[in-house]
Amino acid sequence: MSDTLLQIDNLGVDYETARGDLKALRDITFDVNRGEIVGIVGESGCGKSTLISSILRLTAPNTRFRQGEIRFKGQDLLPLSERRMRALRGEDISIVFQDPMQTHNPVLTIGQQMLDIQHRSKASKAEKRARAAKMLGAVGIPDPEARLDQFPHEFSGGMRQRIAIAMALMSEPDLLIADEPTTALDATLEVQIIERLQELQQQFDCAILFISHHLGVIAELCDRVVVMYAGAVIESGDVREIFHNPKHPYTRRLIDCDPGHIKTRARVLPTIPGEVPDLANLPEGCIFRDRCDQALPCCAHQVPPLTQLQEGHRAACWLNHEEVSA
Ligand SMILES: Nc1ncnc2c1ncn2[C@@H]1O[C@H](COP(=O)(O)OP(=O)(O)OP(=O)(O)O)[C@@H](O)[C@H]1O
Ligand SMILES: [Mg+2]
Repeated sequence: MSDTLLQIDNLGVDYETARGDLKALRDITFDVNRGEIVGIVGESGCGKSTLISSILRLTAPNTRFRQGEIRFKGQDLLPLSERRMRALRGEDISIVFQDPMQTHNPVLTIGQQMLDIQHRSKASKAEKRARAAKMLGAVGIPDPEARLDQFPHEFSGGMRQRIAIAMALMSEPDLLIADEPTTALDATLEVQIIERLQELQQQFDCAILFISHHLGVIAELCDRVVVMYAGAVIESGDVREIFHNPKHPYTRRLIDCDPGHIKTRARVLPTIPGEVPDLANLPEGCIFRDRCDQALPCCAHQVPPLTQLQEGHRAACWLNHEEVSA
């Protein structure tokens, strides 16, 4: 049996706008294996949230799927009915958002919300409550039994995020998607959550798709990295390979801007001079060319393909093609 859990193939997604179609995702191809932690990294606006909302089909009304496939356990998700997608979201794929208040209902106790999540289960109320307490314990909430009766505002931000993770894991999903789950937290809490996620991944044996604009966190947590720029994958590969041997100038700049020291880092976004191109009006050639200090003449009119350079390491840059850069 294949180890591939999620497979994204040539995915193209546009947003219809008054200015014309905004090309939010172009030709996205990567996969996530069972039990693996894959990080998606890129600057703000590069399409990370569009990608995960497309996987979950929780998209804005002006979203248009133009091409490609999203396969989960071998099944193409795009043709699935909304009812089947809802079942999948509740059981096989879970999500943790950046802001845990998006997950928690402020007027219900945490215990009530964790019971509600188990509505499909035939277990008794007492059993469901015991399971909820056990999950809170697993994510490191002290005295979980008593804390079930508290409301979301009675927990700190870091605890709320851990509770969101506990809720996401209640269904024992095969895939946990986390969209910048630590961005709203301070550095110490961020480290705690990352360490906890690593433990939980082992314990629950789920795959994690972890979205961040922060390379340090990705380096700490992930097995593989997908680097996105302006709606496209520009590099992907094993985490060590990407950090020690990056093959795209954009990845190199991201690493330069972010030394990856999760414990000492400053809370600033990486800054690379210049701006992401207008997705409604993409330039010809390589999308990174205007900001690249190594651009070649061919970059102006030819789009570099995402090419396998070594086993599992791909990059989309003409500098890696000897016949062009020679
Ligand atoms: N419903 C929409 N209609 C039109 N444009 C949209 C819509 N949603 C997002 N966009 C645009 O699509 C592009 C990708 O946005 P997306 O939210 O996926 O980026 P992101 O990588 O998640 O950014 P961030 O790091 O800020 O969360 C951006 O240019 C954004 O402005
Ligand atoms: Mg986002």
